Amino acid sequence: MTKPSPRPPRRIAITGVTRGLGRVLVDGLIAEGHVVAGCGRSEAAIQALQRQYAGNRFSVMDVTQDRQVAQWAAHVLKTVGVPDLLICNAALMNDPAPLWEIDALAFDRLIDTNVKGVANTLRHFLPAMIAAGKGIVVTVSSSWGKTTSPNVAPYCASKFAIEGLTQALAQELPKGMAAVAVSPGVIATDMLRQAFGADADNHDGPEVWAKRAVPFLLRLTAKHNGQSLRIEGG
Ligand SMILES: NC(=O)c1ccc[n+]([C@@H]2O[C@H](COP(=O)([O-])OP(=O)(O)OC[C@H]3O[C@@H](n4cnc5c(N)ncnc54)[C@H](OP(=O)(O)O)[C@@H]3O)[C@@H](O)[C@H]2O)c1
Repeated sequence: MTKPSPRPPRRIAITGVTRGLGRVLVDGLIAEGHVVAGCGRSEAAIQALQRQYAGNRFSVMDVTQDRQVAQWAAHVLKTVGVPDLLICNAALMNDPAPLWEIDALAFDRLIDTNVKGVANTLRHFLPAMIAAGKGIVVTVSSSWGKTTSPNVAPYCASKFAIEGLTQALAQELPKGMAAVAVSPGVIATDMLRQAFGADADNHDGPEVWAKRAVPFLLRLTAKHNGQSLRIEGG
């Protein structure tokens, strides 16, 4: 029996790879033979990634800064190529509190990252992806993009926005492409510790999650356009 030919490596761009879910996606996707371009604000973590994974591209970049995103996208398009998969993962959680106790700066910072940061990323990658006529866009959402809890109103508002943004984008993309909102489940990362405190560590850690998430993300195709999916398990 002839062996199936190996799939060609895919080009994958991910925001927020210095910690948490983005960090383990880098390990898992590179282990599967794909080429990754990632970003985050922490210089030390980005340098460590670049040392560990030469041949992939890691950049210090803040998704809230549209000009930095434009430069990052241009660099990725030139050095890695047009992404087959673009994962808008970078986000912040608010310090738990009732909405009226959250100061304007903290609210702005969260919306600038979780909503405007995703729009900035899409603005600078999609023209090349559309010109190439291919590519899957994943916006990382949350169960708090469809349901709510007290003390996380800014985060819920941002993820409800991501669900709407993704559905509208799905109606705009040409045939052959997809925009998919993906809720990762509940995973013990810095973000979950900020929201849940010590209870966060009752959940799977990122490495366990990545074993489910990597094949899930690689299976997404144009037929998933406009869907809102959850990575089950754990
Ligand atoms: N963990 C969960 O249970 C859970 C549940 C539902 C949804 N999610 C979603 O999953 C995604 C990843 O969450 P996580 O738990 O991995 O969070 P995390 O551990 O806090 O990691 C967040 C990542 O985003 C980066 N980031 C934050 N602000 C950024 C900015 N302005 N520019 C560039 N990068 C930035 C951080 O890097 P720097 O600080 O170095 O910039 C870090 O790499 C988020 O979209 C989150 O909303 C997580």
